[in-house]
Amino acid sequence: MASRRSFLLASGMAAAGLGYSYHRGLRYPRLSLEPRALDSALNTQGAQLRLTDLVAIKQRSSNSSVNFTLRAVTPTPSLHLLTQGTQLEVEINNVLPNAKLRVQTQAKSDIQEQIDGINRRLKISSKSHDEITLSWEHGLDDGFDFAVIGDTGGGLELDWCLNRAVELGAQFLLHLGDFNYTAGEYDRAIHQFHHAPLPCYISLGNHDFNDSGLMYHRFLAELGPLNAHFTVAGTRFINIDTAADFFPAQAGLRGDMLQRLAKVPSSVENTLMFSHSPLRDPRPNDDHEVGGINEVAWLLSMANNLNTSDYLCGHVHHSAELDIGGLRQWTAGEGLGHEDLIHQRQVAQLLLGRVEIGRAVAYRWQDLSMPWSMHTSPTHQHKLRRDQRERQWKWYSDTHLAMSKT
Ligand SMILES: [Fe+2]
Repeated sequence: MASRRSFLLASGMAAAGLGYSYHRGLRYPRLSLEPRALDSALNTQGAQLRLTDLVAIKQRSSNSSVNFTLRAVTPTPSLHLLTQGTQLEVEINNVLPNAKLRVQTQAKSDIQEQIDGINRRLKISSKSHDEITLSWEHGLDDGFDFAVIGDTGGGLELDWCLNRAVELGAQFLLHLGDFNYTAGEYDRAIHQFHHAPLPCYISLGNHDFNDSGLMYHRFLAELGPLNAHFTVAGTRFINIDTAADFFPAQAGLRGDMLQRLAKVPSSVENTLMFSHSPLRDPRPNDDHEVGGINEVAWLLSMANNLNTSDYLCGHVHHSAELDIGGLRQWTAGEGLGHEDLIHQRQVAQLLLGRVEIGRAVAYRWQDLSMPWSMHTSPTHQHKLRRDQRERQWKWYSDTHLAMSKT
């Protein structure tokens, strides 16, 4: 009898484990489990912090007085604190440079803020028990532009794209993933994102997920969640993870988020999704697109349930527009400016979106105008030779590479 009970118990546990794994989802190629959600609560002596649209990231500061370093993953972060006569220093990265701090404090705690570009340093002094809410007014409701680009790698091309987005008047950048093509680029890209001239909301690329081993833990620890959403000026932005295929399609945190959003009636005027991989490869005779079993169909059905008009993606180093059953797919993957080399003239583009309350988002292509001196990724050589573009490779190596050595 005891052995039968043990067998049933073990079977039940195995079934529960399988069910749990099934719900959490498998990622492939290179089998791995979808990660768990990031913590939204932090504790330190005398203070409890609750994070909304913020994540705790690895300490960037050399100043040891900083208790926590946080990163905003949307334009609408807020921080709720319960304090007991606490002195705290908190750094917050990726905040809109013009956003204004709003402080709600019941016991008149002292809050000092220093602004350095997208970085804020807060000194919080509470003399007694207090409940404090800190939020930032983004100031975007009068209309704004945002920039969209992916496939930048983590070198000089990334630097150019960040600065070009600012030059074109964007308030923030949607980075569509793949900032890590060769050794060292993950480190450099994270540093650049932490010190960028404008906030970046970043999708995970396949090269950021897995590159000679699983890499996405670095994304989670230093950049943020793999799925997120926010609404500003009546437009909802949904960042979804398509870096590696899901099985089943609806599993994991991406499925949870989309199904949760679909259950809640929404009054938003526009919804767009941004991600890494195309739902359909815009290039004839290529199929570099979301590839899991039934995954495209499921994502299209969720996009439809959420009244999504536009899907922004990268991955294929190309710019293109495509209609997929009424969903407009904008592929904006020229972050390396690689087609400049193919055509031997500056043809690469980035995408800008204009948001205004009461209107559909207006998209327009803008020249990337990347100087030749910044086309330095080793990926250019690899791709030109792989694609048997010997003429372009000779031109590139004779002109740009020869010049960069002088
Ligand atoms: Fe990719």
